[in-house]
Parts: sequence; C-alpha cells; structure tokens
Amino acid sequence: MEFTEFTNPNLEVLFSAEVIAQRIKELGAQIAAEHAGQDLVLVGVLKGSSVFHADLMRQVDLPLSIDFMAVSSYKDGTKSTGDVEILKDLSNPIREKAVIVVEDIVDTGLTLTRLLEILGSRGARSIKLASLLDKPEPRINKDLKIDYTGFVIPNKFVVGYGLDAAGRYRNLPFIAVVKDPEQI
Ligand code: IMP
Ligand code: MG
Repeated sequence: MEFTEFTNPNLEVLFSAEVIAQRIKELGAQIAAEHAGQDLVLVGVLKGSSVFHADLMRQVDLPLSIDFMAVSSYKDGTKSTGDVEILKDLSNPIREKAVIVVEDIVDTGLTLTRLLEILGSRGARSIKLASLLDKPEPRINKDLKIDYTGFVIPNKFVVGYGLDAAGRYRNLPFIAVVKDPEQI
C-alpha cells in the first residue's frame, strides 16, 4: 500500500515496514529461545507500543499471554519529569510469571524506570524490557537496561508504527524522522 504520508516532505523514512518486520522476527526468535518452559506474559504499554506488541507476539513461538498497562508521564515542557500515573493497570497478577514489558521507545528512561519499580514489587519470576527503539542520548537513568532492542536511533523525533506526534501518525507502517517538529 502506498501511504499518502510517503510524500509528506516533513517526514523522512528511517525504517521501512520490511526492515522493521525482519528485526522483529529476530527479536521474537531470541525471546522464544530464552523463555522456553516459562509462564511468559508480554505487557504492552499503551498506546505507543500497540503496533510493536501485536507484531512481536506473533513472532514468539511459545505459549504466552498478553496484558496491557496505560501510563501518563508528566512532562515539564518537553522534558519527562519521571512522575508516572497509572491510567490502566494489568488485568491479571504477574506473580511467578516471566514478564516482558514491551515499549515503543526509551528516551529519558524515566517512564520505564518508574513502571519497572511498580511492577517490581509484584513477585514476578523475572521482568525484562523490550523496546523497539532506543534513543540513548537524552537518557537520564543510565542504569536502565533494555534486554531486547529493535534499533538504536539518533536524538531526533520520530513517528509511525505506533509512535505519535500529538496523537497522529501512529498508523504509518514505517518509522520516519520528523524533519521540522515545528511544522508537524
Ligand atoms: P521517557 O523515556 O520517559 O522520556 O519517555 C518515553 C516516552 O516518550 C515514549 O514512550 C514515547 O511515548 C515518548 N517519546 C519519546 N521520544 C519520542 C519520539 O521520538 N516520538 C514519539 N514519542 C516519543
Ligand atoms: Mg510510550
């Protein structure tokens, strides 16, 4: 399908749908190899990771379950403050389960740090982190470990494949850099 946004002069494709699909295949195989025999649950963090979560789970050839959380990170201007409000909690307990939190992008890392603290007190067997994108430059919590990373990207604002700018562009099948964020 030819998306109209392919011709948006303010967007520059960074990862095509094909490149993303190939990388997710590799991540799925790695996750499957490392979780055989475990009670695995893939926790999607709404809304940004919804597309990645849906594609990743279909590349993990193991019995597993899924769940979702929704959080709002308070931003002080454009900077994340690390305050996280849980808008939607998990539907099921994670006691004794092997949990993989599935995120779209780790930027400052403050949202994930807080989320992992919250989940860390619930008796899971293990808690790991999968993020499609890793933007290391603005990272504040340098200790945050991403167990499964799709792609490392430069300090640019990106949209598509679940990632939004003011709620838009999540439906793009590719990931694009916004050339001029003022114009988006
Ligand atoms: P942080 O790691 O706490 O700074 O926040 C990460 C969240 O900020 C992500 O889950 C995204 O929702 C959002 N975010 C960070 N960078 C981008 C980007 O380049 N495009 C779209 N959303 C982003
Ligand atoms: Mg997010």
